[in-house]
Amino acid sequence: MDAASAPSPDRCASCGGEGVVLLVKDGRTVAEPCPHTNGCRECGGDGRIFATDERGYSTMRACACGRDPRRIATLCALRLPNKFADRTLTNYGCYSPQQARALLRARRFVDEYVPGASIRALLLCGPPGTGKTHLLCAMLRELALRKGVRGRYEEFFLLLSDIRDGFSRGLSSREWLEPLRKVEVLAIDEIGKGGKNREFEQNVLDEILSVRYNAERPTLLATNYPPPGAPWTYGAEGEVRETLEQRVGARIYSRLLDLCDTVDVLGPDNREKQHEVREILREKEHPDDRQASGGRNDSQRASEAAPHRPRPGRG
Ligand SMILES: Nc1ncnc2c1ncn2[C@@H]1O[C@H](COP(=O)(O)OP(=O)(O)OP(=O)(O)O)[C@@H](O)[C@H]1O
Ligand SMILES: [Mg+2]
Ligand SMILES: [Zn+2]
Ligand SMILES: [Zn+2]
Repeated sequence: MDAASAPSPDRCASCGGEGVVLLVKDGRTVAEPCPHTNGCRECGGDGRIFATDERGYSTMRACACGRDPRRIATLCALRLPNKFADRTLTNYGCYSPQQARALLRARRFVDEYVPGASIRALLLCGPPGTGKTHLLCAMLRELALRKGVRGRYEEFFLLLSDIRDGFSRGLSSREWLEPLRKVEVLAIDEIGKGGKNREFEQNVLDEILSVRYNAERPTLLATNYPPPGAPWTYGAEGEVRETLEQRVGARIYSRLLDLCDTVDVLGPDNREKQHEVREILREKEHPDDRQASGGRNDSQRASEAAPHRPRPGRG
């Protein structure tokens, strides 16, 4: 497709006018220029525009079509989990007042973020399936697309195992901390989730938070563990139920409150709903497999499940 025959960017169904698409390739989430920008009239498909200014210096700027290679590299470096490659603030649905507030707060963070300026980070708290990971990924994506912010997504549990690997290869804590310090906006998902070595887990979190605090860079966080007084409880399988304060310790908890606004993300478990929708579709495709459905028919069950399906385009 060349630019002359390309749809106007704001109508492009693949990228919504962003000029880039995120997709899963070889098991990883990567960003690629959207085909509608191939042969762009402004940049010839290079994504950058070179010029000479009035003083005779060469200049380079990103083309408005969006396929600037630096922008694409920034998106790839987010390391978004594959399942979240297409999750955005726009397709986050509000099925409860808390989710509506969480979405507003996430948008406000993106709008107000200015590189280098201090900003309160967010600590998303909620039970499973309410869209905390969705929101973290969507914020990183939006910051990268709109503001060129270098972000990174990390899941705490996987990060711990990377750090243990690093130690076993002889890395010092300074060395494993450095890449996390340099990221402009770091998102750490599932804090509190850990293994048996609580002291090690708390130390890691403490070191990351303090190195980022000293660098004046925000760290977005999400957890299943409730703040004290929250209307839900959480304990991983085989564990006692704990609050976030009990889980991470009073010192780190008080530091979290210093750095972040706590945002409750409460609502229906979307994963359960997605599962139910999949079951209904499977039963439709293979009616012979049908199990007893507790007296409810397909359309009753589908209408119960459908309101919670991610709806692209909802604000
Ligand atoms: N409000 C929502 N609108 C649209 N999709 C949603 C919403 N909430 C959750 N989802 C979708 O449901 C799935 C589960 O959501 P997600 O993984 O973000 O939940 P979570 O709160 O991080 O759960 P957990 O605490 O178990 O990690 C994802 O596919 C996500 O995109
Ligand atoms: Mg999650
Ligand atoms: Zn496009
Ligand atoms: Zn261009």
